[in-house]
Amino acid sequence: MSNTVAIGIQWGDEGKGKIVDLLAPKMDVVARFQGGPNAGHTLVIGDQTTVLNHIPSGILHADTLSLIGNGTGVDPFRLVEEIDMLLAADVPVLDRLRISERCQLILPYHRALDAAREQAKGKAKIGTTGRGIGPCYEDKTARRGIRLVDLTSDTLEARIDENLRYVNFMLTEFLGAEVVSREEVVEALELARERLLPLAADVPLILHRRNKAGDSILFEGAQGSMLDVDHGTYPFVTSSNTVSGAALAGLGVGPGQVDEVLGICKAYTTRVGAGPFPTELYNAEGLCDTENSGKHMAERGHEFGATTGRPRRTGWFDAVVVQHAVRINGVTGLAITKLDVLDGLEAVKLCIGYELDGIQQESIPADCEKLNACIPVYETLPGWSENTFGATSLDQLPTNAKALLKRIEQVCECPVTMLSTGPDRDHIIHL
Ligand code: GDP
Ligand code: IMO
Ligand code: MG
Repeated sequence: MSNTVAIGIQWGDEGKGKIVDLLAPKMDVVARFQGGPNAGHTLVIGDQTTVLNHIPSGILHADTLSLIGNGTGVDPFRLVEEIDMLLAADVPVLDRLRISERCQLILPYHRALDAAREQAKGKAKIGTTGRGIGPCYEDKTARRGIRLVDLTSDTLEARIDENLRYVNFMLTEFLGAEVVSREEVVEALELARERLLPLAADVPLILHRRNKAGDSILFEGAQGSMLDVDHGTYPFVTSSNTVSGAALAGLGVGPGQVDEVLGICKAYTTRVGAGPFPTELYNAEGLCDTENSGKHMAERGHEFGATTGRPRRTGWFDAVVVQHAVRINGVTGLAITKLDVLDGLEAVKLCIGYELDGIQQESIPADCEKLNACIPVYETLPGWSENTFGATSLDQLPTNAKALLKRIEQVCECPVTMLSTGPDRDHIIHL
């Protein structure tokens, strides 16, 4: 087995948790490289559902080491909650999990700033998950972040005081919000010292040794390429790089250590939060869903956020998005999820291009205003009435479903290597 980067290539929630969990038994290590508790990765095994925010989706497997890399923001309260949830389910997480000592901590003032900024933006808000992600990455880049390793530093107290002076000035003077108390911050730091510091490790060294020993490593991304801070629908993005290249910087490995890039995408498209979505059909307000196809996707796909519970916006598969993602990530294979959700639709559409002011676009416009003005060019394929839920081989699929997959491969110029037909680990077709 080779080293694989597994990433979402739409706007997140593509089914990364499910795919990583099912690949994990073949892997010796699963390592998360960016994001933080904004992620919600769902694993379904029989009647047991587990939602993970920070912890890699290989954690349920006995022989797989789970690593959280330096590129990931860690909220002590939430990560400890996640660890305790797994311990309560008899998962020996303390033996299986190690956290990079270079991880940035998400502290109470990051969450307060995230909430206050969104509030201040009013209608123009991003629709963040409210988990303090943006402010944490800002502090990292501004070189005032607190890392796990800094919990042992003599200068910690002074740095916290300086950070609080700045943050509380921003909160009260600019954002009209309440101050964050020193006690709240100290509580988070003490929890991290007590529960997370014992799991701290030199992740690049572990990966180097594992690689030399010939072990297989799976690099697990969070969010999706269209939420990447550089390549996504800026500013309606998250604050980290979500692309495959971020696996290297977010863990401390070299480019030669990556063999495959698995691009995970739904057979349609969803998005949570604000921002452009050219093939959108349906959202909480209804929108232009004349045939109720978007509503069908939302209902049959149970499209509610795993982290925030917010309803997801739904729309047709956008091949322009996937082509863009194949290019910027060097995707070598596609894992298409939620094919079963399209069961029962009379017709299925693929967006194969955008038109802007009557001119065909070569790729996604970098300017959100222009992207919003793009008109999707659709190709319509016949749907199917048969049930594909839980199918485990290609023979079980109706001809029209197979034709859709073929067309996706052609248009995206990338082979489909996995096909998911239900939430369970066993609902999978390997191609
Ligand atoms: P992630 O963030 O990419 O890990 O995805 P989420 O867990 O946030 O959202 C994906 C949702 O779809 C979860 O509820 C999964 O259990 C579910 N899911 C994954 N694959 C399939 C599939 O092939 N069919 C169906 N019906 N549900 C799926
Ligand atoms: P997983 O890993 C879907 C979205 C938010 C918002 C934007 C910025 O489960 O696929 P942030 O809190 O990161 O500052 O929010 O990004 N977002 C996600 N959408 N899945 C996710 O993670 C997401 N993480 C962030 O809704 O639009
Ligand atoms: Mg999710």
